[in-house]
Amino acid sequence: MKTDIRKALLELFSATETAFVSGQTIADHLNCSRTAVWKHMNALKEEGFLVEAVRNKGYRLEQNTDQISENELYLGLKTTVIGQKIVYHPETSSTQLIAQQLLHQGTPEGTLVVTNFQTAGRGRLSRVWLSQPGDNIAMSLILKPQLSMQQFPQLTFLASVSIVAAIKEVVGIDAQIKWPNDIFIDGKKVCGVLTELVSDPEEVKAVIIGMGINVNQADFAPEIKTIATSLRLASGETLQRSALIQAILTKFEAFYQQYLTEGFAPIKRNWEEHALQFNKHIKARSLKGVLEGEFKGITDDGVLVLQDANDELHYVYSADIEV
Ligand code: BTN
Repeated sequence: MKTDIRKALLELFSATETAFVSGQTIADHLNCSRTAVWKHMNALKEEGFLVEAVRNKGYRLEQNTDQISENELYLGLKTTVIGQKIVYHPETSSTQLIAQQLLHQGTPEGTLVVTNFQTAGRGRLSRVWLSQPGDNIAMSLILKPQLSMQQFPQLTFLASVSIVAAIKEVVGIDAQIKWPNDIFIDGKKVCGVLTELVSDPEEVKAVIIGMGINVNQADFAPEIKTIATSLRLASGETLQRSALIQAILTKFEAFYQQYLTEGFAPIKRNWEEHALQFNKHIKARSLKGVLEGEFKGITDDGVLVLQDANDELHYVYSADIEV
């Protein structure tokens, strides 16, 4: 099925939510015959949509399932750039790798790669990112902004505030951000963000922002139970992953537009408002030892600013913050 027809159909159903849409309305909307409508609806069915057809009423799309598919994600998505191209793999090595491959093929800014399961998910600092099949979100977003080297880390912070805002909207929970960019709920990690630059010797060509979110996972291995949680465990509800992905894309686009016009300042303010232990006493543990003091915020390149007992400011580039 052609993408523009699919999109027009999904938009029409999204606008009418659960109601039936008559064949004639669809025909008028697509400017085609009733027979063509019937063919298009069958094509949607073949793509995995649950389509109900009732005589004298028309067609209805079942929208309430937690399946992730390109169609499910396009349905009702109101962005103009972010997520306008979505590539879904039921299983893959890492969405970061797929995103890299797509970049080499010239994929546009805003392309999103999503999977149901990663066999070689990776985290920050060369760590492994493990995620249970079918329960969680693993996705990578491709951006191509014109930025200086110093500005690129700001996009990770932008991703974090977008995820926090989306969680608030969809789940109703106030999540917090642990420096640099882990999302926490009730003192446990629920999401990690990994930003990778794709560059040649002259310039940065693109940024791939990987997001791993524990959504419907009901249990964690004993060794991580005390430090990891999921949105389901935190809220007591099973969530529709596609709704959360759409909310993240929508928030991301709004923040990204604001960032491109107003710069990093509003994003930084938002990040600090949601930062765990902001203006509180923290311990930053690094290879050099433990630094203690008040967490005063972040610099424009994302470095943590800590004020010690003698009012001296320290700039922390890499450390584990104890919670
Ligand atoms: C971290 O907390 O260390 C960051 C974890 C980032 C995981 C995501 S899942 C989607 C994307 N693909 C990967 O292989 N990693 C990121």
